Amino acid sequence: MRNDAELLDYILSHIDHGTTDLGDEIWYEPVENYSSQARFDSERRLMRRLPIPFCPIAALPEPGSYVARNAAGVPIVVVRDLDGTIRAFRNACRHRGMQLAEGSGHTKLFRCTYHGWAYRLDGRLEYVPHDHGFPNLDKDGNGLVPVHAVNVQSGLVFITQDEPVGPGALESLPDLLSDDQVLFESDEHVDKINWKLTAEGTLEGYHIKPTHPESFFPYGYDNLNVIELQGPNSRVCFPFRRIEKLRDAPRENLSLDRMVTLVNRIFPFASVTRLAQHYNVSLAEPESPTRTRYFSYKLTLPITDGGAVTEEILARAKKDAAFLSDTGNKEDAKVVSDIQAAIGSGANTHYQFGRFESAIGHLHRNLARYLERLDQLERDV
Ligand code: FES
Ligand SMILES: [Fe+2]
Repeated sequence: MRNDAELLDYILSHIDHGTTDLGDEIWYEPVENYSSQARFDSERRLMRRLPIPFCPIAALPEPGSYVARNAAGVPIVVVRDLDGTIRAFRNACRHRGMQLAEGSGHTKLFRCTYHGWAYRLDGRLEYVPHDHGFPNLDKDGNGLVPVHAVNVQSGLVFITQDEPVGPGALESLPDLLSDDQVLFESDEHVDKINWKLTAEGTLEGYHIKPTHPESFFPYGYDNLNVIELQGPNSRVCFPFRRIEKLRDAPRENLSLDRMVTLVNRIFPFASVTRLAQHYNVSLAEPESPTRTRYFSYKLTLPITDGGAVTEEILARAKKDAAFLSDTGNKEDAKVVSDIQAAIGSGANTHYQFGRFESAIGHLHRNLARYLERLDQLERDV
């Protein structure tokens, strides 16, 4: 990945020549992959066998903070224990399977609301009411069941539920979030679309002028992107026109904050986007071929001058987030839902992703590669 100074010079050369980054190949993705139940089931099984971002670390600020939600259809709870270690468990009581945590919050113990079994934050079974009813209970063998692995990297908590099929996003992860970014909003919503359509809409700038003529285009360029690949991940840069003011700026310690939008696709289901005044972490939880739940977390920009997050920084971040959700995001959502509605039209056997859309080809190529590996492993069992 280029640093900000290198990125600036590279973008200026595209501006001066009227060019954009071009991939080598056209990618043809079968339309069936957006609607088939078998394909969806494979993607979800893959999701359990790859490191997948569950939440930003900022969502677990102190010992006892937890986040519970489904991941690939499995209820999972992630918690920061009393020593500060981040752990992830299957969210099911060892007595009769009741879920132990819901949403997010702060606790000292996970106490089951059904019969009152209680677990420490490191998962150990601490207390069983009237335990003479379970004379042979092996307490040590009845703690919460952890997922296969937890990795905390680039400001995100990754969980791998089962034996992984490969390193996935962790093969080579860019720097994403820093410790000083403050979480100011989180939400959850459901879209009646296939998750891949939404992902694709964020990975190219070929559509900026026709789709966003009054929201994004006046501040940006028509079809001008820098596309960088890192392992199966990618980063797509959308410069703002005001970047040209930096032409003569000293390159040492140069920051492109507020000058670019950077969409990082964290293979395959997540994204971390650096916007003009805030960051957005978007985590997709596909629920069916036509339904996806999104968990999103909004954070302030990193502090570059050693100061603190002020009210002013926070207000700017919130205003930026509100602008996007009132304008460009609505335009993107309309496109995606119109495509979803036309999937069964029979017009296309494949969608075609051209040389401006190579980050999308990269996502599909890697997804196909990993699904093939999953298929092979499942056949060998
Ligand atoms: S299911 Fe949890 S205590 Fe019974
Ligand atoms: Fe868009």
